[in-house]
Amino acid sequence: MLKNFYIINYGCQMNIYDNEIIISILTKNKYNYVKDIFKADIILINTCSIREKAEITVINKLIYLNSLKKKKKIFIGIIGCMARRIQKFIKIKKRIIDFIVGPDNYRELPNIIKSIEDNRYFINILLSNEETYSNIFPSKIYNINKVTSYVTISRGCDNMCTFCVVPFTRGRERSKSPNVIIKECERLYNYGYKEITLLGQNVDSYLWTPETHIKKNIKDKKKAIDFSNLLEIIAKKFNNIRFRFSTSNPHDMSIRVLKVIKKYNNICKYIHLPVQSGSNRILKLMNRKYSRLEYINLIDNIKNIIPECAISYDIITGFCTETEKDHIDTLNLMKYVKYDFGYMFMYSHREGTYSYNKLKDNVPLIIKKRRLNEIIKLQRKHSYNKLKKYINTVQNVLIEGDSKKDNNYWYGRNSQNTLIVFKKNNESIGEYVNVKILKNTSATLIGEREKKY
Ligand code: SAH
Ligand code: F3S
Repeated sequence: MLKNFYIINYGCQMNIYDNEIIISILTKNKYNYVKDIFKADIILINTCSIREKAEITVINKLIYLNSLKKKKKIFIGIIGCMARRIQKFIKIKKRIIDFIVGPDNYRELPNIIKSIEDNRYFINILLSNEETYSNIFPSKIYNINKVTSYVTISRGCDNMCTFCVVPFTRGRERSKSPNVIIKECERLYNYGYKEITLLGQNVDSYLWTPETHIKKNIKDKKKAIDFSNLLEIIAKKFNNIRFRFSTSNPHDMSIRVLKVIKKYNNICKYIHLPVQSGSNRILKLMNRKYSRLEYINLIDNIKNIIPECAISYDIITGFCTETEKDHIDTLNLMKYVKYDFGYMFMYSHREGTYSYNKLKDNVPLIIKKRRLNEIIKLQRKHSYNKLKKYINTVQNVLIEGDSKKDNNYWYGRNSQNTLIVFKKNNESIGEYVNVKILKNTSATLIGEREKKY
């Protein structure tokens, strides 16, 4: 019988959370999770489709694993966002892949693995309107970090941004019951975790009623529990845990949420607020459902209500038809907001999306790259200036582990999600300490334990 399974992970925090769900499901069914690929009978590759590069990485890995397969009997399963797309690249009949399972069908994995033992191929990529994995507790043996963890609060996305494959790979938006979320947080608290990030493609769009958790079916939205209610419930209930959340969509983020963030010390003062572009014309083409002005108003509200809040973004450069003027609008927006940090990507034309079907990927690569570099350069300057302001302040840091560069130093984060390193004394992982900031780079603060006189 096949026994040992190993997981290769690509993609976002949601995939990491899903790996913990998969480990729970399979270990309950007598499979054994191994951390050494050479001990595995079954290799699961949890995939990402968001950009072409992510898919190419998976294909290259498959080519490598196929060479392993010639030496040893192993079975390979593709899971996650590429499940619906992988057969465009590799035919399952060639037996490089033995099974394919989409993000809503992990409960089926034990049966599927049994059927491949009988030498059958297996594909299960149907999307579900219901699945939230609500009675499965994610296993805690996957993540080596015992300080910070994730709880998924919703799955799927109904937003249909024209460039994005997520609505096609992960299906309709569903929210998890507040009681299940509370139970998961409780469990993490009992394990000793100190920080939880609430996950969803679009957390601000969370909406739950006892009758239905499928957003589009909720009739009376006023009676439902929304994200601000959920955040308040858990912040109150777990005042020893600090909470983060990701991702916020500017279209759905409410003033009520900002007020809850302000009200509770244990909700981190950090908002990831992807803008994608600073140009009204491009925002419209992207179907982002907010204008540049509405985005700026939201930023102003954040700055007024939570002045200490750090803000980051996602920006896509070179979206279909993007002109130099559109690009300058984006740079100017960055100059207005002065983000703490950000994630920037070159536009990748994804088959199946609206922009793929209806628009032309007509910005030459060389221009996409140049625009990307201008954004990176501007961000570096903003980040450096932002971090410089922390010098001589005292920051409360949750210690997450050894600094990667020097294990005489700890690394951790403050509420604003800034990386802080400082020399070890007698502290331990998972402890909160006050650190006086002495220096900065554009990505890190360097400090020392605050001296008590
Ligand atoms: N739910 C999240 C987005 C998930 S995808 C949100 O609403 O922000 C993460 C980021 O990948 C997006 O914010 C976007 O900036 C980027 N992205 C998505 N599709 C892309 C594409 N086709 N090309 C380049 N970047 C893309
Ligand atoms: Fe994608 Fe837009 Fe949803 S970026 S995940 S369709 S909010």
